[in-house]
Amino acid sequence: MSLEVPSARVVFPATDRAEVAAAVAGILDSGALTLGPYTRRFESAFAAAHASPHAVAVASGTAALDIALRAIGIRGRDVVVPANTFYATAAAVLQAGGRPVFADVDAATFALSRSTLEASLTPDTAAVVVVHVGGLISPAVDDLRELCEERGIALVEDAAHAHGSTFEGRFAGAFGRAAAFSLYPTKVVTSGEGGMVLTSSEELAQEARIYRDQGKGAFAANHHVRLGSAWRMSEQHAVTGLVHLRRMGEFITRRREVAARYDKALAGLDGLQPLAEPAGCRSNIYKYIVLLPPDMDRALFKSQMAERYRVRLSGEVYDLPLHRQPVLAEYGGPPLPAAEDVAARHVCLPVHSDMTDSEVDQVLTAVTAVHGALSGR
Ligand SMILES: Cc1ncc(COP(=O)(O)O)c(C=O)c1O
Repeated sequence: MSLEVPSARVVFPATDRAEVAAAVAGILDSGALTLGPYTRRFESAFAAAHASPHAVAVASGTAALDIALRAIGIRGRDVVVPANTFYATAAAVLQAGGRPVFADVDAATFALSRSTLEASLTPDTAAVVVVHVGGLISPAVDDLRELCEERGIALVEDAAHAHGSTFEGRFAGAFGRAAAFSLYPTKVVTSGEGGMVLTSSEELAQEARIYRDQGKGAFAANHHVRLGSAWRMSEQHAVTGLVHLRRMGEFITRRREVAARYDKALAGLDGLQPLAEPAGCRSNIYKYIVLLPPDMDRALFKSQMAERYRVRLSGEVYDLPLHRQPVLAEYGGPPLPAAEDVAARHVCLPVHSDMTDSEVDQVLTAVTAVHGALSGR
């Protein structure tokens, strides 16, 4: 019997673990446990890896979004958010004092399109958050940016999934006034907990530094000039992220090899529709998303993959769009059919940064068999 293929795996090779452990010992010895030299090194390395002028390390991806929105200034105003994103995208809007307006998405990219955005703009829209779902930057991103520029609206990237992803050679983080990355353990690059704000604006980066440290005007001062919070990154997290970030290129290469094998094999299976990578896009394959046929029972598909073939699928990227989440229901508007359809119908196949060929074989054997059984073939 083959081993189980887990839905996700955090990859820290032994040499990296040893390097982190030695650095943590040094950090504890130094007494500089937060906002120290490792944080600055991690920020520089993360900015360089995304060809961005400024990076500000913070406590989480949620904090990065919240800070970006506060620095832009959305209090009391509307912020368009796609309906199929993580709770934190909308929660950050609310925490920063704005009102989320949920928009439908393009089923081909799971992201906002010009027409879904246009349908959701209000006279009081201050910002739009685009989400690079699963690591894919939608080719509509330039169009969205243009539309926002025309209307004087700030574009923010929720790049929680998109470390190292590009569109036409430009990295995630290059499209909005600011971009928020998550460094949560499941992400392609992790620091344990953590987040990063990328921006090309020196002024916005400076605001982000103020917000992350209790809104203080200066590190050693006790005057508070912004409504910030305890959104700092510790040195222990920073060194973990710094060491992990070095692997980003090789991790993405392996993830793309796995995706290429999945693409090739699934092309022969009727009715299964992997999210295709449009021309010009280079996803980091944070998620490998497949739409099941409308009549296929997703829960049964997943349980058969696990029970018969020992292949565990993760939770969906989002199985319930935000306008259907109980705590956000009051912000719901008209039906958002594409967001609801893709949320109900997709699954994510396992992709790990060190996935073996035999694990890929096991997943493909399982998908082929379960798809055949459930579609009566
Ligand atoms: C799209 C999206 N935005 C924001 C976040 C929040 O990131 P964090 O968990 O680091 O706060 C996540 C988390 O997974 C996410 O998927």
